[in-house]
Amino acid sequence: MSLDVAAIRADFPILARTVRSGNPLVYLDSGATAQRPIQVLDAERAYSLTSNAAAHRGTHLLGEEATDALEGARARVAAFIGAEPGEIVFTKSATEGANLLAYAISNAATGGPSGGPAAGTAAAALAVGPGDEIVVTELEHHANLIPWQQLCQRTGATLRWFGVTQDGRLDLSDLDTLINDRTKIVAVTQQSNVTGAMPPVARIAEVAHARGAIVVADGAQSVPHHPVDVRTSGADALFFSAHKMLGPTGIGVLWARADLLAALPPFITGGSMIEVVRMEGSTFLPPPERFEAGVPPVAQAVGLAAACDYLDAIGMAEIAEHERMLTARALEALSEIPGVRVVGPLTTQDRGGAISFTVDQVHPHDVGQVLDELGIAVRTGHHCVWPLHRSLGVQATTRASFYLYNTPGEVDALADGIRTAQKFFGAL
Ligand code: ALA
Repeated sequence: MSLDVAAIRADFPILARTVRSGNPLVYLDSGATAQRPIQVLDAERAYSLTSNAAAHRGTHLLGEEATDALEGARARVAAFIGAEPGEIVFTKSATEGANLLAYAISNAATGGPSGGPAAGTAAAALAVGPGDEIVVTELEHHANLIPWQQLCQRTGATLRWFGVTQDGRLDLSDLDTLINDRTKIVAVTQQSNVTGAMPPVARIAEVAHARGAIVVADGAQSVPHHPVDVRTSGADALFFSAHKMLGPTGIGVLWARADLLAALPPFITGGSMIEVVRMEGSTFLPPPERFEAGVPPVAQAVGLAAACDYLDAIGMAEIAEHERMLTARALEALSEIPGVRVVGPLTTQDRGGAISFTVDQVHPHDVGQVLDELGIAVRTGHHCVWPLHRSLGVQATTRASFYLYNTPGEVDALADGIRTAQKFFGAL
């Protein structure tokens, strides 16, 4: 069933505003951050107006309500991705989710009494060091690359990576050799924020698991746009952020298999993650609390839970199909404009709704500026994926990204806007 986009748009007042010279806003930058519906804003406001308190602290009623709100949100997010509530760690962002894993793993490598891994512990099995390999890909956002680079630098492990094909998909021709008995971790995106390509994470995971490696998936661009079920994803851990899925900024999610979380030492330490504290040393709570030091972001968690409700009420499969329709239309429209090159797959097969492109003789920032004058918001630059741009032989691109509230008319406005930019810069 197709989406009732007019009804959806009515829930997003920001989409009704005008920008620059009074042009209607055409928001094609949901890959960077999505807009929020009234239902999400109302949920945060209602919680803040009635129950605001520090969760998991205090004995008063508001404290209890805040704790219930936080734990209710945890259960709601778990249900959204087919997980158990105890496997959901609230972070500040997707980026923090990747860093939490990478730092917890290096803490596992140095947690023993003599500075090495604590022998015989579950954490020791996760530790990495010289001779071990971590495999990433050239498609990765810096958030799923730099934490692993840094982990290698801290521990002496070696970073290896999959390259990309000219159409911006993963080149898996060396899958069976790149992942080998030395591999401890494979970190891969479920959907590229630049090319939209959706790597076969389950297939990669089969190879990784056969070699005893764990798979960490970046869900920042997949969880908001497609049905994601962690039980069939192949991943052992998955991180994503709320603000790209109609939720608030300042909160992200790290899901990991319960046994993996249980084995990991903490990353950030402090209040609320401890069991017993003595001046000589401390012990820590089981997950997820072990990884949630500090006062938790309850209002944001409530907003995220409301976003899950909103998305599920519409249907993730329906949202994915709507974006597939918009992406097909955009790929066709852009292919008809001479001088435009889409940096990514040219069909919607295993592809999401992020379309990055170059325009001959017009710098991406200039394309972005002309589009902005017309009211069309896109992103320009390397989109935090510099190695991919280098590999594809482009310095920067312009990126349009779609969501459930975008219309076919907005896709056409993008194509018209690109032609206007070409005319303006004499590139036609
Ligand atoms: N990661 C976000 C993007 O791709 C910010 O735009």
